[in-house]
Amino acid sequence: MDIKITKAEGDQLKPKPEDESQIGFGSIFTDHIFLMDYVEKKGWHNPRIEPYANLRLDPAAMALHYGQEIFEGLKAYYGRDGHIYLFRARDNFLRMNRSAERLCMPKINIDLVMEGLKELILLDRDWIPRSPGSSLYVRPTMLATEPHLGVRPSKEYLFYIIIGPVGAYYKEGLNPVKIYVEDTYIRAAVGGTGYIKTGGNYAASLLAAEKAKEKGFTQVLWLDACERRYVEEVGTMNIFFVMDDEVITSPLTGSILPGITRDSVIQLLKSWDIKVSERKLSIDEVVEASEDGTLKEAFGTGTAAVISPVGQITYKGKDYVISEGKMGELSQRLYDEIVAIQYAEKDDPFGWRIRLD
Ligand SMILES: Cc1ncc(COP(=O)(O)O)c(C=O)c1O
Repeated sequence: MDIKITKAEGDQLKPKPEDESQIGFGSIFTDHIFLMDYVEKKGWHNPRIEPYANLRLDPAAMALHYGQEIFEGLKAYYGRDGHIYLFRARDNFLRMNRSAERLCMPKINIDLVMEGLKELILLDRDWIPRSPGSSLYVRPTMLATEPHLGVRPSKEYLFYIIIGPVGAYYKEGLNPVKIYVEDTYIRAAVGGTGYIKTGGNYAASLLAAEKAKEKGFTQVLWLDACERRYVEEVGTMNIFFVMDDEVITSPLTGSILPGITRDSVIQLLKSWDIKVSERKLSIDEVVEASEDGTLKEAFGTGTAAVISPVGQITYKGKDYVISEGKMGELSQRLYDEIVAIQYAEKDDPFGWRIRLD
C-alpha cells in the first residue's frame, strides 16, 4: 500500500523548541502525523502522512464511550554516529497487536506501520533533539471511531502515530525514587487487561498515584489484585529486585505489561551470566530481605526512564531504604549498557537497533 504524503506548509509549520534543556516530556509534537483508516470488510486503507492537526471525531465515536483505545510508546534517537535509530520498534507493534486482540480491535500490518513511522520520522527529522539523553518519543494509537451507542466492538477505527521531542528523563542524573506500596487500590487483575496498553488501565491507576504523590512518593508499587501480596509493577514500569546473587522480576501472568525494557534487561542479565528469575515475589519477602540485608537493589524499567532506581519503599507505614538510597551498581551497569546500545555507542549483539537513514 502506498503512503500518500501531504507536507505541512506555511502556518502549519510549528516553531521548534529553541532550548533543548526545556523540552520536558509529552507536550511538544512535530509538524506531521501518520494516519490510516479501517472499516469492516474493507480493512485498513488510506495510509497517509499529513500536517499535524486536530482529529475530527463524531461525539458518539465508540472509543469515547466504551474505551476501545490502545496505544504504544517508543523512542527514536540520533546515534553517536549521526544516524537515526529506533529501538525494538517491531516489538512495540507486536504488543499493539496483542492489545488489539484483547479489545476486539483489528490488527495492523507491522511492515506497513514501520514504513509509515520511518517516513514520518525522516520527514520531521529536524525535530529530533541531539543533546545527551534526549530523543524523539513515538506514540502509535488506535481508536474506535464508529458513531454508535451500545456495547459491542466498533466497525470503524483510526490508527495514527504522533511523534515529539522529549528531553533527558534525568536532568540531574539518575535519582532514586521513593515508592509507596499500594495495599488498597489495585491496577489490574489476572484475566483483565493489565497485560495490554489501553487507556482504561492508566485511568484506573490515577487515584492511587495522586494519593501517593500527596504523601511525597514518586510512584506506587502495585500488588496483585487477589491477595495484595505479590509485587507486580511500579507506576508505569516493570520492577526488579536484586537479592543476594539473584535478580527477580514478576512473571508475565496476565496482570502486568510485558515491558520491552524488562525483556532487554532479562536478556542482558542472562548474557552476563547473572541469575535472573521471573517468579512470584511477595512483599513480605522483600521486607525480610531488606531487614536481613540481602536486598541489594531495586529498580523500575520502562521506555521513558530506561532504568529508574528505587531508593526507598514504604509498606504499612514503615520505610525500607534500599541501596542506601543510591543508584546500585547493577542498575547503573544496565542503564549504561542499554543507553550505549540505543545511541549506537556500542555493538548491538541482540539486533535491537533499527537504522532509519
Ligand atoms: C504499565 C506499564 N508497565 C511497564 C511499562 C514498561 O514497558 P516498556 O519497557 O515497553 O516501556 C510501561 C510503559 O510502557 C507501562 O505503561
